[in-house]
Amino acid sequence: MKVSVIGAGHVGATVANVIAEKDIVNEVVILDVVENQSEGKALDMWESSPVQMFDTRITGSTNDYSKTAGSEVVVITSGKPRSPGMSRDDLIGTNAAIVKSVTENVMKYSPDAIFIVVTNPLDVMSYTAHLASGKDTSKVFGMAGILDTARYRSFIAQELNLSPKDIQALLMGGHGDSMVPLPRYTTIGGIPVTQLMEKEKLDAIVERTKKGGGEIVKLLGTSAWYAPGAAVAQMVEAIIKDQKRVLPVCAYLKGEYGLNDIYIGVPVVLGREGIEKIIEVELDDTERELLNTSAKAVREVMDVLDNMKLF
Ligand code: NAI
Ligand code: 2OP
Repeated sequence: MKVSVIGAGHVGATVANVIAEKDIVNEVVILDVVENQSEGKALDMWESSPVQMFDTRITGSTNDYSKTAGSEVVVITSGKPRSPGMSRDDLIGTNAAIVKSVTENVMKYSPDAIFIVVTNPLDVMSYTAHLASGKDTSKVFGMAGILDTARYRSFIAQELNLSPKDIQALLMGGHGDSMVPLPRYTTIGGIPVTQLMEKEKLDAIVERTKKGGGEIVKLLGTSAWYAPGAAVAQMVEAIIKDQKRVLPVCAYLKGEYGLNDIYIGVPVVLGREGIEKIIEVELDDTERELLNTSAKAVREVMDVLDNMKLF
């Protein structure tokens, strides 16, 4: 089993490291355009193998895609991250061209790979990778929902002083401030969160979650990588081990939730074939309205991509 990670920056290197430490694949390749960056990080990670007790071989490559040949899963993290004051959507001008060319290069050597897109603006970059690869949408999708849900779950755990392991939640919509956390589908050890937390506190957590990416950008001057890296590795593991996990993933919709021709966050079954099923949960009128508003925000960025005339 071989996984390649394109972009060996903060997120890409963390993804590679977490996958290696999970010891679930034979080889991880990391590739970047910056001379020797991938080689140096790959060597450093490999030198941790006797301590962290993994066998996964880690290879670095400066823009040589032949090293990624035969990958089962390819993660795309290449592109610019946010700086303070920027929204994820401001990145499209730079990142669309990067994601397009990276996807085309990957396809030359790993035409059967499953693609997980991470680069922002996530929903539209997932669409870009789909268009550039020409692959079925079950094999090209994005990571955001696991990260956004993890933030939401971690804030609830902190507020109630309970284990994050026991908090289950669902979050839908685009990876932006219009994302849709769903308190009605949030439970703690099987108990609805509304029985354990006052509405005002939960509302504040929902708002904090929506701005969770920006909170890190304000602190660090760039965007997050530990939680995103762990979230991507969870998706890779679900695919490699054919786990049939139920996870929120940025998926292409063909009529589900009344939406068509759009990549947006929804719960799916993730296994060896990629997205094996899109799950349609019941939404009440307010939740549906929020999802439609989020879809509208994603479509505005899709229009920017259209106007770039890359395809
Ligand atoms: P970073 O700047 O640390 O790393 C990006 C890397 O991409 C750099 O090493 C750069 O040299 C490389 N790169 C640029 N053009 C390339 C090309 N054509 N081929 C190969 N590599 C290339 O940025 P970071 O923090 O790793 O973020 C990466 C992307 O992921 C950003 O767009 C960021 O907004 C996004 N992101 C998305 C998240 C999500 O939930 N979907 C979470 C966190 C970050
Ligand atoms: C995040 O949510 C920036 O999308 C990135 O941290």
